[in-house]
Amino acid sequence: MSDGAPLLSVENLRVQHRSARGEVCVVDGVGFDIAAGGTLGIVGESGSGKSQTALALLGLSGASASVSGRLMFDGEDLLQLSAARRRALRGARIAMVFQDPMASLNPYLRIGVQLAEVLQTHRGASRAAAWAEAARTLDAVRVSAAAQRLQQYPHELSGGMRQRVMIAMAIIAGPQLLIADEPTTALDPTVQAQVLGLLDELRRERGLAILLITHDLGVMARLCERTLVMYAGRVVEAGATRELLQRPRHPYTAALLRARPTMQHPAGLPLDALPGQPPDPRQAIAGCRFAPRCPQRRADCSESPPPWQHGAACRYPVAPG
Ligand SMILES: Nc1ncnc2c1ncn2[C@@H]1O[C@H](COP(=O)(O)OP(=O)(O)O)[C@@H](O)[C@H]1O
Ligand SMILES: [Mg+2]
Repeated sequence: MSDGAPLLSVENLRVQHRSARGEVCVVDGVGFDIAAGGTLGIVGESGSGKSQTALALLGLSGASASVSGRLMFDGEDLLQLSAARRRALRGARIAMVFQDPMASLNPYLRIGVQLAEVLQTHRGASRAAAWAEAARTLDAVRVSAAAQRLQQYPHELSGGMRQRVMIAMAIIAGPQLLIADEPTTALDPTVQAQVLGLLDELRRERGLAILLITHDLGVMARLCERTLVMYAGRVVEAGATRELLQRPRHPYTAALLRARPTMQHPAGLPLDALPGQPPDPRQAIAGCRFAPRCPQRRADCSESPPPWQHGAACRYPVAPG
């Protein structure tokens, strides 16, 4: 990688799906950079295109999708690579942790077999070497009694332990980028905090870059230097997480902040409790996609796309003070 270039640079990413009801564009012109060892969070309501963005990076958009843009990873455009090269990158250099570890772990295989298999596939390691590395990696994700855990099946572990095993599987081959899609949503708050703490330690110890997807701005604040806010397939705000939380520029970000869990209501409002609904992605929209739900909208907001100013796609952003 050339000096100064980000590890991952995404420009104008578009993901369209063909369906019986026509073409639908679910990611529309998304762009961002992540430095080696850096962190970026993507936040937004359910359906805003966060997972579709992650899947495009992994080359897992599926047969119905057409993906365009430039996805520069460590000097290569991922979209120009052969299917075989992309498969080889997946797991080895770009790894992913999903929300539901039970859906990703094989219920019939011991933890050790599943961990060792990643190394045997990507590194051609011997079974004995892979098994030893599996134990070391479980240690690294703070799973106690690693040697015994390797012999267990997924259902014998708690939810938090299973998520640690998933993180171990993701990092065992030594990737440069970890994409974590809602990794703690299914966990209770104490375990959530532990898993986020673990991700932060792994970033510092291994120089792992992390792309964290969440609908929870509190989770974002714990881990990510920078944040991207998505709405209806587009980036509506981007900036340093701390500033964005203190002084959101886009009315949508402000609305997300108001819907955040508080001490009085720890479970929080679901984000779906924001008034109104995101637009149907099949619908053509001339102006700002958030305008129909925006408390600050003015008449011209629905006429043409909003300009990008002060880090937000908004005609009337909150001005920097
Ligand atoms: N295979 C597909 N075909 C058509 N639309 C899809 C497909 N997969 C996802 N979508 C739509 O793409 C949009 C974004 O989905 P997703 O990225 O999963 O949202 P989220 O931000 O919740 O992760 C949603 O409207 C979803 O219904
Ligand atoms: Mg998702």
